[in-house]
Amino acid sequence: MSIELKNICKSWGQLDVLQNIDLKCAKGETLVLLGPSGAGKSSLLRVLNLLDTPDNGEITIAGETFDFSAKLSDKKLTKRSQMLRQKVGMVFQQYNLWPHMSVMDNLIEAPVKILKQTKQHAREEAMKILEQLQLADKADVFPLALSGGQQQRVAIARALMMKPEVLLFDEPTAALDPEVTNQVAAIIKSLAITGITQVVVTHEVDFARKVASQVCYLEGGEIVEFGGAEHFQQPQTPQFTNYLKH
Ligand SMILES: Nc1ncnc2c1ncn2[C@@H]1O[C@H](COP(=O)(O)OP(=O)(O)OP(=O)(O)O)[C@@H](O)[C@H]1O
Ligand SMILES: [Mg+2]
Repeated sequence: MSIELKNICKSWGQLDVLQNIDLKCAKGETLVLLGPSGAGKSSLLRVLNLLDTPDNGEITIAGETFDFSAKLSDKKLTKRSQMLRQKVGMVFQQYNLWPHMSVMDNLIEAPVKILKQTKQHAREEAMKILEQLQLADKADVFPLALSGGQQQRVAIARALMMKPEVLLFDEPTAALDPEVTNQVAAIIKSLAITGITQVVVTHEVDFARKVASQVCYLEGGEIVEFGGAEHFQQPQTPQFTNYLKH
């Protein structure tokens, strides 16, 4: 399994945002997380690369296991989560590119600083990825001179520079028009073929149907329905059936 969660729980004060989450996702799957606003989708994504620490349960992801039922020391956890984020990349709705750096410099920053690649090697790798994503002509441009769709593709390219085993997307198409949304769907599908495991949070059911090999429907911090992409045609619960109608 590329991802396995056992009994993951997370609260903020009185609010249980994740309750007893169990799920498994094999290598190369694209798992889509759906659910109403506040269901816990982003919280689950943040827990997957340890941006937030669960209160209980066990996470295995990209070959690393974290048992939160035993108290891990903060120092050890910080170190291990930094290591983990080299294998588990994240792409946000707001792109989060560095505005004062060219596209190329955005891409090579982490491989040079963290993986200690030479600039020349990192630049060569960056050009390959930019070509794949039809961005080769934008290498020397600054992010603000790009369209939203181009910025999102640069954000994906930057995540790919670390050769992640798992890639997490939080509403990657929320700010994009339908044509560009389809481009992002095509990128996710082409990455799935390479064996990267992907977890995608979205509100857009059409987009979800295009990319999903697995689907997880959440409400109130709990998994209501989980299974293969066939659940879009044959939902098993009234809640997911209802969600798919609008
Ligand atoms: N840092 C935090 N402190 C307190 N409460 C939080 C925090 N982060 C999230 N929450 C709460 O946890 C719940 C789940 O939030 P989450 O962001 O995971 O929802 P979501 O499913 O991603 O919703 P949306 O579709 O609106 O993005 C919400 O009620 C939210 O207010
Ligand atoms: Mg969210």
